[in-house]
Amino acid sequence: MKVMRRIPVTALEPGLVLAKTIFGDRGEVLLAKGATLTQGSIRALRRRGFRAVYVRDGLADDIEPIDVVSEHVRAIAVKRMHDLFAMVQHAARTSAEKGKQDLLLPAKWEKLWERLYRDIENIIDDVMEAETLDGLVTLKSHDNYTFTHSIDVAIGAIGLGKVIGLDRWDLHQLALSSLLHDIGKIYVQQEILNKPGPLTVDEWEIIKKHPEWGYETIRKMPIEEIFPKHVALQHHERQDGSGYPRGLKGSNKIARSLWERFSPDRILLVTEIIQVADVYCALSSDRPHRPAYPPDQAVAQMREMAGPHLNRELVTLFLRLVPTFPVGITVRVREGKWRGYRGVVSKVSPLAPDRPVVRILVDPQGEFVSPFEIDLQKEKEIQIASVFDLTTPLPDEE
Ligand SMILES: [Fe+2]
Ligand SMILES: [Fe+2]
Repeated sequence: MKVMRRIPVTALEPGLVLAKTIFGDRGEVLLAKGATLTQGSIRALRRRGFRAVYVRDGLADDIEPIDVVSEHVRAIAVKRMHDLFAMVQHAARTSAEKGKQDLLLPAKWEKLWERLYRDIENIIDDVMEAETLDGLVTLKSHDNYTFTHSIDVAIGAIGLGKVIGLDRWDLHQLALSSLLHDIGKIYVQQEILNKPGPLTVDEWEIIKKHPEWGYETIRKMPIEEIFPKHVALQHHERQDGSGYPRGLKGSNKIARSLWERFSPDRILLVTEIIQVADVYCALSSDRPHRPAYPPDQAVAQMREMAGPHLNRELVTLFLRLVPTFPVGITVRVREGKWRGYRGVVSKVSPLAPDRPVVRILVDPQGEFVSPFEIDLQKEKEIQIASVFDLTTPLPDEE
C-alpha cells in the first residue's frame, strides 16, 4: 500500500523518493521525480528555501498529485519568464545609465515575446481541459518565487475566466497580465523580497512602489496589449477602496454598468479576476516569513477577504474550482466516526471539492493501521482538517 504525499522539508530523511520534480529558477530540473533524497540534496532544498516537497515513502505512492498544467509546459514557461524579467531588468539598467527615458530592449526581445505567446496558448489549452484547479500552486524556492508565482496566477485566472465565459482573446489578455503583474518587483532588492522577518516601515514603502514601477515599465515595452500595465498598477487595490496606490473601488459584482465600466476610480474586471488568483496562490505558497497556509485554511481566508478586499462574486466561483482538500495532502478526522485518525486525500470529485475520499493510515495514537478509505460524500457526519504531518503529535484536540 503506497501514498504520494506532501511533507515538510524538516521531516525529510535520506532514502525517501521524490514524487514531483523540483525546478530551479530557470525552469531547470533540480531534482527529478523518482530521485532518492540524500543528506546533501535535503540540505540543498533547505538552502534554496523550499519548505515542503512531495515524496513517495511506500505509504501512498499510487496517489498521484494532479497538475493542471503539464510539468513540461510549466517548465518552459518558467524559463521564459526568467529570460523576460532578466532582459527587462537589464534594459532598465542600461536606459538609466544612459539617462534615457525609454526602455532599451535588445533585438531578440521580439522573438522572446512571440515565444511567450505560444507558451500562453499551451497553458490555456491545458487549463481548458482541466476539470478543477487541483495542483494549481507549485512548490517554490526563494529565487524562483516571482516567476512560478506569476504562472500559478495565470493558471488560476484562466480557470476563473473560463468559468465566467470569457473568450480565447480575453483569456490570453488575462494570462499575459497575470505574468507581468509583479514585474515592478525587479526594482526591489532581493534582500527585501526574501526577508524572513517583518518589514520595516521603509522597506514596506519600497515594496508598495512595485505597482507603479510595473506600470511604468510595461508602458515602455513595445507591446500592443493595453491590459497588462493597468493590472500591474491596480492589483493591490481593494473593493472597499483601502488598497494602494490609488484607492480604487469595486462593487463586488461581475456585471458592471456602463458607467462603472468607464469610471476611472473602479477596478477593472480583468484585475479583479487576477487578484483572486493572486491572493489564493500567495496564501498557498511558502514564503520567507511564513509557511504556506494549508488549502482549507487558505479557502477560509479567501472567504474572509471576499467583500472588503476581493470581488465577492468572483471568490465564490473560484472556490468551486479549487479543492478545499487537494489530492496528496495530509488530513485528520476532526469530527464523526474515526475521529483522531489521520490519512491522505486520495480522490477529489469536481462536484464536491470539499468532500474528498481519504485514505486513513494512522490511528489517534499515531500508530500505522492497515489502510482503508472513507468517502466524505457518503459519510456526511465526518469533518476533516489539514494537518502538518501523519505522525507529528498534535496539540490538544479541540
Ligand atoms: Fe504585487
Ligand atoms: Fe502577486
